[in-house]
Amino acid sequence: MFVMKKIGILNGVNLNRLGLREPEIYGKTTLEDLENNLFETAKTLGVEIECFQSNHEGALVDKICEWADKGFSGIVFNPGAFTHTSIALRDCIAGCNIPTVEVHISNVYTREEFRHTSLIAPVCIGQIAGLGLAGYDLALFWHANVNGALLVTK
Ligand code: DQA
Repeated sequence: MFVMKKIGILNGVNLNRLGLREPEIYGKTTLEDLENNLFETAKTLGVEIECFQSNHEGALVDKICEWADKGFSGIVFNPGAFTHTSIALRDCIAGCNIPTVEVHISNVYTREEFRHTSLIAPVCIGQIAGLGLAGYDLALFWHANVNGALLVTK
């Protein structure tokens, strides 16, 4: 039986304000438009997605656990400012053992120094930063086509 891969699109604190907050940094596209575009991308990639955003650390922890328990094959995660502060989210990803790609719309490494440290990155498969909203599509592509595929290393 063919079962479609399920991938969670998770957005953290303040990302509900996409399109309104600092458009010179994050652009003018709203979270709703971003999610609708990702549903289209998912269709072309032949995967299913579920989207969730919260400004609350615990709600994000609960969602990661829920998706892991439901057998999701991975997560695309922009934690927002929780990137730089949240041991709870880091422990959750490590404990749930679910392949997670960290995404940042802006290039955090060219911005304030406090954005240069991610507590989340060490427990993620990889990180995409600075490619705008395309970062979400690219992370989804990785989950759809690379994650779980046989990698020939020799
Ligand atoms: C962000 C970068 C974070 O430093 C910031 O706190 C955000 C958005 C990004 O997508 O570029 O809220 O995660």
